[in-house]
Amino acid sequence: MTVESGVLAPDAVRRMFDRIAPVYDVMNRVMTVGLDLRWRRIAAEAVVRPGDRVLDACCGTGDLAVACAKRGGVVTGLDFSPAMLERARRKLPSATWVEGDLLGLPFEAGSFEAATVGFGVRNVADLEKGLAELRRVLVPGGRVAVLEITQPRGVLAPFYRLWFDRIVPLLGRLLKGGAAYTYLPASVRRFPGPDELAGLMGSAGFAEVSYRTFAGGIVALHTGEAA
Ligand SMILES: C[S@@+](CC[C@H](N)C(=O)[O-])C[C@H]1O[C@@H](n2cnc3c(N)ncnc32)[C@H](O)[C@@H]1O
Repeated sequence: MTVESGVLAPDAVRRMFDRIAPVYDVMNRVMTVGLDLRWRRIAAEAVVRPGDRVLDACCGTGDLAVACAKRGGVVTGLDFSPAMLERARRKLPSATWVEGDLLGLPFEAGSFEAATVGFGVRNVADLEKGLAELRRVLVPGGRVAVLEITQPRGVLAPFYRLWFDRIVPLLGRLLKGGAAYTYLPASVRRFPGPDELAGLMGSAGFAEVSYRTFAGGIVALHTGEAA
C-alpha cells in the first residue's frame, strides 16, 4: 500500500492525518482559494434542519461540523485521528466529539436525523461499508450529505490535473507535515465518479439520491434520504 497508489491502510491514513492536522485548514483555504467553506455551508444547508441530531463523520478539524451547528443542528463529530479531533474540539467546544471509525460507528441504529461527510469517504478502506454505516445510524427519512473531490471531465480536466497532480503536492512539501499531500491526487483518481457514487449510495439504502458539482466539476455534493 503506497501513497502514490492512493491506497493506504487505515492506520497509515490515521497517522497521515495526525501529521497533517497543523496545516490542514491552511491547505484547504489555499487549495480551494477559500471556496471550501462555502461548499461546506451548502452541504449543511442541504440536509440539516434546526434541532436535528447531526453526525459529521470523518469530521477532521471540524469545519463542516461548525457549518451544521450554524444551521441549528445538535452536532456529534467523529474522526479516528486524535490530532484532527483535538483541533475540532477547540473550534466548537459545545459539540460532542468522538474518536471512532466510520466503518464501525459507535452509535445505535436511528440515532441521527442527518449525517454529513466532508472530503472523508475518499479515504475509507471500504466505501460500501462506510455508506451502510451512515444509513444504519440515520432514522428512516434521515438525510445524508457527502461532499467529495471528484474528477471533472471536459475542458477543465487538464487544469485540474495540473493543479492537483503538480501544484497541490508542491504546496504540501513547502508546509511542515504537508508532504502527505502527494497522496491526494492518487486518492481522487481511484475514487468513483459522481454517477457511480450515486449508485453506491442507492445500494447502501439511500433514496432520492442526487448530486450537484462545484468549481467546474472538481467537487461533488451528493445527497440522499435513508429509505
Ligand atoms: C480530508 S479530512 C476531512 C475533514 C473534514 N470533514 C473537512 O471537511 O475538512 C478526512 C478525515 O477523515 C478521517 N478519516 C478517514 N478515514 C476514517 C475512518 N475510517 N473513520 C473515521 N475517520 C476517518 C481522517 O482522520 C481525516 O480527519
